[in-house]
Amino acid sequence: MVRTIVDDRLWVLESTDVAYACGVSDSGDLLHSYFGAPLAFERDYPPALSFPISVPFSGVAENSPEEYPSWSGAMYTEPCLRVSFPDGTRDVRTRYVGSQLSSGGNDSGTSEGDNDTLEIRLEDGDRGIRVGVFYHLHPESRVIERWAKITNAGGMPVRLDQVMSASLALPESYSYRISYLSGRWGAETQLHRRMLGTDVTVLESRRGHTSHEFNPWCALDPGGKATEESGEVYAVGLAHSGNWKIVVQQTPAGRTRLVAGIHDFDFNWELPPGDSFETPRLLLAFSGEGFGGTSRAFHRHIRKTVLPEQHRDELRPVLYNSWEATTFNVSEDHQIRLAKRAAELGAELFVVDDGWFGKRNDDTAGLGDWYVNPEKFPRGLGPVISAVREMGLRFGLWVEPEMVNPDSELYRKHPEWIYHFAGRAPTLMRNQAILNLGRPDVQEFVISFMDRLLAENRIDFIKWDMNRTITEPAGLDLPAERQREVWVRHVQGLYRAVEEIRRKHPDVIFEDCSGGGGRVDPGILRLFDQVWVSDNTDAYDRLFIQEGYSQVYPANTMVSWVTSTGGPLGQRQVPLEYRFHSSMTGVLGIGDDILSWSDEECRKAASLIAEYKEIRTVVQRGEQYRILSPAGGAVAAGTTAVAYVSPDREEAVLFAYRNGPHFRNPMPVIRVPGLAAEALYTVKGAEPATLSGDALRRVGIRLNLIRDYDSLIVRFRRAQHAG
Ligand code: DGJ
Repeated sequence: MVRTIVDDRLWVLESTDVAYACGVSDSGDLLHSYFGAPLAFERDYPPALSFPISVPFSGVAENSPEEYPSWSGAMYTEPCLRVSFPDGTRDVRTRYVGSQLSSGGNDSGTSEGDNDTLEIRLEDGDRGIRVGVFYHLHPESRVIERWAKITNAGGMPVRLDQVMSASLALPESYSYRISYLSGRWGAETQLHRRMLGTDVTVLESRRGHTSHEFNPWCALDPGGKATEESGEVYAVGLAHSGNWKIVVQQTPAGRTRLVAGIHDFDFNWELPPGDSFETPRLLLAFSGEGFGGTSRAFHRHIRKTVLPEQHRDELRPVLYNSWEATTFNVSEDHQIRLAKRAAELGAELFVVDDGWFGKRNDDTAGLGDWYVNPEKFPRGLGPVISAVREMGLRFGLWVEPEMVNPDSELYRKHPEWIYHFAGRAPTLMRNQAILNLGRPDVQEFVISFMDRLLAENRIDFIKWDMNRTITEPAGLDLPAERQREVWVRHVQGLYRAVEEIRRKHPDVIFEDCSGGGGRVDPGILRLFDQVWVSDNTDAYDRLFIQEGYSQVYPANTMVSWVTSTGGPLGQRQVPLEYRFHSSMTGVLGIGDDILSWSDEECRKAASLIAEYKEIRTVVQRGEQYRILSPAGGAVAAGTTAVAYVSPDREEAVLFAYRNGPHFRNPMPVIRVPGLAAEALYTVKGAEPATLSGDALRRVGIRLNLIRDYDSLIVRFRRAQHAG
């Protein structure tokens, strides 16, 4: 996969539709050469050249497309690496020293083949700083992973002040449009697009988790010309679940550059002699087929390479979660009654949410005390679990292991375990403090209580929540000047704890949650099988959240519950079908008080769940095509459409939603891409027809969506070759 050409000074990573090249300049700098569609001939890849002219008040360094720029000399754009030395020097000048191909650089730890990882080694010999710049092109998804490893080869400890994953120089002479995801609690992953100016764009989290506010992803398209299915798009996604930063800016000479990695805000990291620091992975995707093309590359990559191997290829079960039905008022009898109804409807997994442990009657107490509440479950969880299993359901449980309420036995025993500044009151959020997972003893506590819980009870599924952000980032068992390591040590501690728990209990499915989608990134998905995407379960709002989520993350990770209209977040009145259809585009769940559903609602729900089971293989494993955005377009105003096509293109499912009649617009005609052009497909769910993939893509089908919140599922199955 990796070909080295031109006297070992230029490296080309090439696959069927993506190529990435970089090389070493005469002055020994590692420079960008090319990223895009593969070129016809090897000699087409441009040599690595420093910026040819000097720009007054700037310099060659910050204008040259360095792959891993360190802060040195006239360098005022965002660097990848800043280092402080004990003598006060803060200057690193790295030069190329060698390269090597090795195996198994895969993010999941599994090897895809020999010599699939390219390391280019840079060094500042005077200062003993070695930098490994890594590249790994994944043949199946065509996603390129980039990361770096910094080693202190000197004799004195040094301090890393900034250590990013990678820098990417975009093709020259274009202005770019940026697409990014921002939001807030209940409104995560909203898609935004705007042309970049000459200002500096920063997407970031300083909150200790990935954040509801921004997701570590963006896409850049030259000239703002790409559509969902056409045009060149460059996209990046960062695999880190703590503070992160993506900076996009123009160099003084006008070239657009992107730098991404761990946030340098309130960060530093001491590197004793001989130690190394490895950055999180940055995923890079290129597509000549628009935003949909890069999203599908990320989906394939996450599904095939990132998600935990144990459950990677399993279809996700239909779940019922009791949170919106009960909040904290859980009890043995009521949970069993809910489970019975959930089983009748066709659910496959029953999840008891918050409130089952300690003295947890509301959000003011109990976090940290992970024993079963004896008033709510006098006989322990055993009877509920047995009843649930006898109904043919799997059993799941909610936990929030990183947290503690001051009103808890754990806090009274270990007040020193929370993040805090000595002698100052810690900030509470949702009445809880955050445990210092940077401490090995806290990690051990989390691992051992989870191990006990999972060993003592037959639990198939864990929903791991995190309902606040980090404040007062200190309390490590390290000297004062190293307290800024907290942000990264928390993430490392979390990863380590979950890894260890998973190793001990490999059959358990893990769902990631942080008050909805506050901690979603390609890093967390290495350890969690699926994600609770938002606490906002309004079916129409969800279309926006899900459109944003799908830019990066695949449908088999996107859990979506059907809840009632007028629920806790003030949802609008939307028919049951629409609510189901909105949730059926990912991993279907039910989160309502189903005991209050009428017979008619139960009958409809059971039939929709049965239909989901018929289509979920295509939804969860298929290639996704976003056809009409909920943000709307003039012609099909108010219509949203998304399709999933099986990888063998034998079948497809189209979901379409309309909010209501608008300006007497006609019923929308939806074009369905992704099917085999010359195959014939039978259409079910719209006017019965047999149409070719070509006709479906170029002509489309008219959908009978008329009333307020009408929605439809249309299924396509290959009949024969048109031949
Ligand atoms: C926040 C989650 O997003 C909800 O689904 C629920 O689990 C609550 N926490 C429980 O406290």
